[in-house]
Amino acid sequence: MRMYDLIEKKKKGGVLSKNEIRWMIDGFTNGELPDYQMSAMMMAICFRGLSARETLDLTVAMRDSGDSLDLSGIHGIKADKHSTGGVGDKTSLALAPIIASLGLPVAKMSGRGLGYTGGTIDKLECFPNFSSDLTKERFIENVNQVGLAIAGQTANLAPADKKLYALRDVTATVDQMSLIASSIMSKKLAAGSDIIVLDVKTGSGAFMKKLPDAEELAETMVSIGVMAGKKIAAVITEMDQPLGNAVGNSLEVIEAVEALSGKGPKDLMEVVYALGSQILLLADVCQTQEEAIGLMCESVASGAAKRKLAEFVEAQGGDASYVYDTSKFERAVYAVKVLSRKEGFVSGIQAEVIGNVCMMCGGGRKKKGDAIDLSVGILLQKKRGDFVKKGETLAVVYVNSQEKGELAAQQVASAYTIGETEPQKEAMVKKVIKGSNE
Ligand code: URA
Repeated sequence: MRMYDLIEKKKKGGVLSKNEIRWMIDGFTNGELPDYQMSAMMMAICFRGLSARETLDLTVAMRDSGDSLDLSGIHGIKADKHSTGGVGDKTSLALAPIIASLGLPVAKMSGRGLGYTGGTIDKLECFPNFSSDLTKERFIENVNQVGLAIAGQTANLAPADKKLYALRDVTATVDQMSLIASSIMSKKLAAGSDIIVLDVKTGSGAFMKKLPDAEELAETMVSIGVMAGKKIAAVITEMDQPLGNAVGNSLEVIEAVEALSGKGPKDLMEVVYALGSQILLLADVCQTQEEAIGLMCESVASGAAKRKLAEFVEAQGGDASYVYDTSKFERAVYAVKVLSRKEGFVSGIQAEVIGNVCMMCGGGRKKKGDAIDLSVGILLQKKRGDFVKKGETLAVVYVNSQEKGELAAQQVASAYTIGETEPQKEAMVKKVIKGSNE
């Protein structure tokens, strides 16, 4: 087989066979195929697309390029959740303990933040000494004992995707539906859970800016999951403005703890309960969404979910006393208020701008491996639909340099649009796409 011929075939709109895809992915992973040929193939795929069968074959080939976790040592049906990434997205921190407190094991692989989007592992490291670097044995043991473990992705989980993503990132070939779907699903399949619930974000702060694109991505990923024998659903949720009020690592952890204390912002709780009910329905823990939401609300009201968070943090070496006293979390030195320059209704807050401000203040990475400042961030005091008077506080920026704070405050102000009329209410959940194995 020659890579030249496969590139030529795809360039002309041909369909690659399962063997050809497997050969290409294996050769690329072990370094036999050069980056320039793989880049040409990625660009040909961007123009010509992949069929559903090719997308599945690509996903499976990438899944098999490294280790797959065997979670059969965990008792019962295991659940995982994945978000396509957004700003202020602390959903996993609230959702995972709620689900685990209801007796359903959660075995989750999470990543670090990159660019303007945050990552669960960075947020969890706000608990001093917390470790996501678990051996496979400890990961399984923790899920069996606590009902919840969250680990960082090991180097050898879908290594083909790691290499391919780095290449796509610099060759303008990221935004192709089949490539995104196979990238995400290869990692999820290798991570071994029985149930996968996907949070596909749409809006200005999301990867998929438009709803039809988010729908297509969600449908593609769900059909891959079904073909791989998983119980799977995707919930398309809104990411036009940041989720909740907090953006920045420790601020977001505090908000997630508040959510587990029954004081979570409405939009965050809507997303948490929408995703959680899909997990509980797929696991046959309940039969209706109302029943699922009832169970989750009960777990929060009784304190069971919060206790589960503390138990999980402690089991992974972290200081669980922070769960009960959030004033212990590291705080930035300066708090700079962002004041409204006019009166009216907040009609929009550009999530991407807020995410970039957080990154500029030190809360996010420009490139992989950069150190981050967990204490900085933005607390939004006004969200879309709120009325604001001239001079009233829109948001507070938490920073460790006064100079950065002034610049950050100006940028946060520019992310707000204030209009004369009250904007229409947007539903947080745009659509649920369920997989069917029947
Ligand atoms: N997230 C991934 O893991 N892969 C993509 O291709 C895009 C987003």
